[in-house]
Amino acid sequence: MSSARVLTGITTTGTPHLGNYVGAIRPGIADSHDETKESFFFLADYHALIKCQDPAQVHQSTLEIAATWLALGLDIDRAIFYRQSDIPEIPELTWVLNCSAAKGLMNRAHAYKAAVQANEENGDDPDFGVTMGLFSYPVLMAADILMFSASDIPVGRDQVQHVEMARDIAQRFNHNFEELFVLPKAVVDDSVAVLQGLDGRKMSKSYNNTIPLFDSEKRLRKAVNQIRTNLLEPGEPKDPDDSVVFQVWSAFADEAATADMRRAFEAGIAWGEAKKQLFELINAELAGPRDEYARLMADPSHIESVLQRGAERARVHSSALMGKVRAAVGIRPLA
Ligand code: TRP
Repeated sequence: MSSARVLTGITTTGTPHLGNYVGAIRPGIADSHDETKESFFFLADYHALIKCQDPAQVHQSTLEIAATWLALGLDIDRAIFYRQSDIPEIPELTWVLNCSAAKGLMNRAHAYKAAVQANEENGDDPDFGVTMGLFSYPVLMAADILMFSASDIPVGRDQVQHVEMARDIAQRFNHNFEELFVLPKAVVDDSVAVLQGLDGRKMSKSYNNTIPLFDSEKRLRKAVNQIRTNLLEPGEPKDPDDSVVFQVWSAFADEAATADMRRAFEAGIAWGEAKKQLFELINAELAGPRDEYARLMADPSHIESVLQRGAERARVHSSALMGKVRAAVGIRPLA
């Protein structure tokens, strides 16, 4: 039996926050160290262009996300870590897949449907502001996945449909041409926390409720202090299951420390004290990587060379498979 091949992409449009860390980066880095898995991680900068038309932001975010993964200890000797746009076979495969993916399938993609629905609610033309990039986003994502014969795709719930579309697209190609693609499956890990933000909603840049990952220690303390709580006084029992402070605590603490904090809540720990302990817990995990992040951000040429090496390793796979794909569809030398 071959080992699981794990692959995931991170769209380069923002600065990673604590929710990204707990939900995607930390489990990804753990996978990179797992001997039973082969992992592929990449910066999805072509996907970034769908959402973001600000070149400076796409560029800066690429640097920040790469520095974040490296600072947190991604094992770049085991995992293959690369930038999507360094793999010319990806857009090449995207086109080939575009020519067999059903338009009707793309019509059902959540992101596209949400855009159309918002337009209809506003009384606009249904396709107002909808680019071909947004419409065919799942095909580019299918190319990312199928290019590397990945079996396991760790994603959040919002991306499950895209992985299923990749599977569908692969099946259709395998049936019409040649069995070249591994059928991928989405892996949603329910033990990984979806972190709540300062206001109790899912932590997300679009809600403006995030806790920064690698800002200064002072900013981290300030953000933790801004987590919304209720008006219960010190000494009054507090419900851990209705508290963002406790939810974030349990994403960082081990089982014993989580049980201790649960008891402290029930015994009426003061909010100020709970937040102080929470800050210290998070800071203990992030202080070392924060220094490393600062060093890496000051040395973009090192990061660039790491990505170039990753691209070289990735292209061993992509150029071989793309050669087979071209031949399978009839694009090959005449003699
Ligand atoms: N679309 C994904 C997201 O927004 C990022 C992504 C691009 C991805 N290509 C991928 C994730 C391939 C998994 C596999 O989160």
